[in-house]
Amino acid sequence: MTNLAGASTPTLTIEPGATLKAIQEEDAQQGYVDGLNDPEVSSYLITPNKGNETLETVRSFVRACWDSPSDLLIGLFVNQGHRGNVRLHDIDDKSAWIGIALFDRSVWGQGWAVRSLTTVCDYAAEELNLEKIYAGVDTRNDRSVKTFTNAGFKPCEIENHKPRGDFDQVWVLQK
Ligand SMILES: CC(C)(COP(=O)(O)OP(=O)(O)OC[C@H]1O[C@@H](n2cnc3c(N)ncnc32)[C@H](O)[C@@H]1OP(=O)(O)O)[C@@H](O)C(=O)NCCC(=O)NCCS
Repeated sequence: MTNLAGASTPTLTIEPGATLKAIQEEDAQQGYVDGLNDPEVSSYLITPNKGNETLETVRSFVRACWDSPSDLLIGLFVNQGHRGNVRLHDIDDKSAWIGIALFDRSVWGQGWAVRSLTTVCDYAAEELNLEKIYAGVDTRNDRSVKTFTNAGFKPCEIENHKPRGDFDQVWVLQK
């Protein structure tokens, strides 16, 4: 497995003015912090500092992802603003896990989540040669269920997966 520590991604274009790219500490600004502290955004997220994020805690998370050999934290930028992130994590030779949080609620409901997942999953299949991408889905989270359904994920059984918080189903996208 390629060591992804310190690795970036190419800029992935969803459409003109809407791109995805691995982020570094300096990309994390106050809007990201404020969004994570918004209960509407964070209620279904698994975060160590829920509701009490600061620029320091968020930057430390971004740095940890950047330094990790098996994580990619990919920012969604629309009209030059950082609107949210897709995180590929626990990446191995064949599979990875994925999560998404659009911390800027003003962009919700416009299809950015589905298009971001599709673009990142295509990148993971084509450039990282991953065959399966798993997502932990909390079925009480209607938006998340619709998002992953529309991006082509399906509920699945997975053996030996570590419980990772509150989600009650594992979904998979298989290429
Ligand atoms: C979940 C999330 C990523 C969805 O983002 P989004 O940009 O609104 O998603 P999209 O616009 O791509 O739409 C996804 C689907 O959700 C639907 N949706 C929007 N608001 C909804 C609501 N209140 N209830 C149910 N579905 C809703 C959309 O209509 C769309 O489905 P459709 O095209 O079949 O109608 C975003 O709400 C978010 O970041 N939430 C907080 C973090 C989170 O819960 N992440 C998921 C955990 S992994």
